[in-house]
Amino acid sequence: MTLRGLRIALSVAAALGVASGLVVWQARQAALLPAQTTPAAIGGPFRLTAHDGRTVTDTDFRGRWLLIYFGYTYCPDVCPTSLYAVGQALDRLGPAADQIQPMLITVDPERDTPELLRNYVGLFHPRLIGLTGPADEIAAVAKAYRVYFAKVQGAADSPYLMDHSTSTYLVGPDGTFVTVFGHGTSPEQMADTIKGYLDRR
Ligand code: NI
Repeated sequence: MTLRGLRIALSVAAALGVASGLVVWQARQAALLPAQTTPAAIGGPFRLTAHDGRTVTDTDFRGRWLLIYFGYTYCPDVCPTSLYAVGQALDRLGPAADQIQPMLITVDPERDTPELLRNYVGLFHPRLIGLTGPADEIAAVAKAYRVYFAKVQGAADSPYLMDHSTSTYLVGPDGTFVTVFGHGTSPEQMADTIKGYLDRR
C-alpha cells in the first residue's frame, strides 16, 4: 500500500468510527519505537592536570561527590564569591563534606598554571583542587558541562578578562550530573541541598 493509500485508508477508517481503535494502534506503534532520548546529559569525562602536577581524570573520583566550578584565578569578583560560597557550604556540612571533592576547572589555561592554581585554591578551602590543561581539553569539558567562556580584552594595557558561566555543578558518586547551583546561591542553601542528596543515598 502506498503512503497515500494508507492515509486514505486511515481517514476512511476514522470516518467509519474506529478512531479509538486507531489511537490504540498508534500507541502500539509508538511503543515499538526506541525510548525517547532524554535531553543531552550534562557533564562528561575529563583528563586534566591538578594544581600539584598530577594528571587526573573524572574516573579517579568515582565514589565521591564532585562540586565543580569553572572559573579562573584572575577573575576580579565573581569567581572569588562563588568559591567562597563553596568553601563555606563545605564547612557547614561538617564531616559529611568529606564525601565531596570540590574543584575549580580553569577557563583560562593560558595563564592558570598549576602553581597559580595551587596558591589560589588554598584561599577558599583546604581540599579545593585546581585543574588546568591544554586549551582543547578545557574547551571539551566546558562544553560537556555547557559552560560558556570567552576572552574579553579590557582597557589598553590591562590584562584580559574571561567572560564565563558562573554555575557550580554537583556530580554524583557514579559520575552523573545531579544538580547545579546558580551564582548567588548562599552557602546555607548549597549545604542544605547537598545534604538532602547525601541523605537520600
Ligand atoms: Ni570569574
